[in-house]
Amino acid sequence: MEKITSLCKRRGFIFQTSEIYGGVEALWDYGPLGALLKNNIKQEWLKSFVQARDDIALIDTPVIMHPKTWEASGHLKNFTDPLIECKHCHARFRADHMKEGNFVGQGRAKEKNQCVQCGEKEFTETKQFNLMFKTFLGPIEDESHIAYLRPETAQAMFEDFAQVLETMRFKIPFGIAQIGHSFRNEITTGNFIFRSREFEQAEIEYFVKPGEDERAFDEWVESWEKFITGLGVKKENLRRYEHKKENLSHYSKRTIDIEYKFPFGWSELTGIANRTNYDLSQHSKFSGKALVYFDEEKKEKYTPYVIEPSLGIDRLVLAILIDAYEEIKGGRTETTKSTKGEEVVLKICKKISPIKVAILPLVKNKPDLVNKAKEVYKLIKNKFYCQYDEVGSIGRRYRRQDEIGTPYCVTVDFETLEKEDVTVRDRDTMKQDRIKINNLIEFLSGKLDL
Ligand code: GAP
Repeated sequence: MEKITSLCKRRGFIFQTSEIYGGVEALWDYGPLGALLKNNIKQEWLKSFVQARDDIALIDTPVIMHPKTWEASGHLKNFTDPLIECKHCHARFRADHMKEGNFVGQGRAKEKNQCVQCGEKEFTETKQFNLMFKTFLGPIEDESHIAYLRPETAQAMFEDFAQVLETMRFKIPFGIAQIGHSFRNEITTGNFIFRSREFEQAEIEYFVKPGEDERAFDEWVESWEKFITGLGVKKENLRRYEHKKENLSHYSKRTIDIEYKFPFGWSELTGIANRTNYDLSQHSKFSGKALVYFDEEKKEKYTPYVIEPSLGIDRLVLAILIDAYEEIKGGRTETTKSTKGEEVVLKICKKISPIKVAILPLVKNKPDLVNKAKEVYKLIKNKFYCQYDEVGSIGRRYRRQDEIGTPYCVTVDFETLEKEDVTVRDRDTMKQDRIKINNLIEFLSGKLDL
């Protein structure tokens, strides 16, 4: 984890928010490369689950919703974590995250033993702590103006169920998707962006006929996992964890987490839940509005069941970075003596890598070469995210690009000036192809699957 966090900071993927003031616990900034990576992941998600399907529509809703939402959803009452406090140093912990004096990552241990902060063993009784952030709507700060920052994007999909159904003329089964920020006042944080107080979720609420929910649930587990492996996460680093009946969320009939083998242990990457008709029924009850489906053919009316695949984008960013990280001892064959040592290659799936192509003039002190390289840079910059780099030896520059996961380096050399072609180096194989500048965009598009 240290290596990943240091790479992220050093190369501008992710760093602490408000760092100049000492940072804020569990809040993170995505820097220039991180923001592109995250955005690429979201675009792939949209492509797979919205663009490529006829039965799912996207919505985009505010993070503050009507406060009744959280009464109806059960979050006001149930969205809590067990909190214990050390009687000596008053550090607060999640009771379910402590075991034998250590935090067990995001494990599922129940025992508590000693305080990880001061080593004492006396704790207060466990209290339930609500994780929702409170705020006030408007200038009056009293009970009647309390509002909450959403702890999940899901509720808007339930509240908008009838609108989407009508405007899209959907028939069941159909889904509503959303990507957006969610907020949780987590008691214990840590492990970099794994557990933050503000994070992004990509969620789908997939409405099905009761009785067809179990099959739909299994299908969603499959396609969710396929999406993750499709972004290059190795299958052997994923496993499924089925929640025990007694630990299910208040709304769930069945939940399977897809866990990733993080350096701090197997932990939840994403989850798929069968939320039954709980949410639609609750919102119907609290709002007085019917949230039902009428089957025209069978002339029957029912409250649909909901299958919910829910993905934390930040956790996926972390898993992708960890999975892609490779150290090559002694350096790669092409490196010069001066750059030999341990090399890092970030083998991020090419379609989501932040920078797709680097343009490198072989040397920087030959104006013809530099001008040609800048010309090539301008040509392909409109099509792909590119970096132009002329600083340092060519080996060192390849190494810089490898470290940020750039799949292709285009080198402009003396032959380019005569033959109008360039060398294209592949990050993973280090194979070099000689490609005519005229064919460069087509060649790279094919390779990058764009
Ligand atoms: N709508 C269902 C729901 O929110 P959840 O299991 O509480 O279910 C879904 O959250 C996903 O959101 C998790 O699998 C995880 O990827 C992500 N997530 C939850 N809490 C998080 C946090 N504090 N920081 C980062 N990601 C988080």
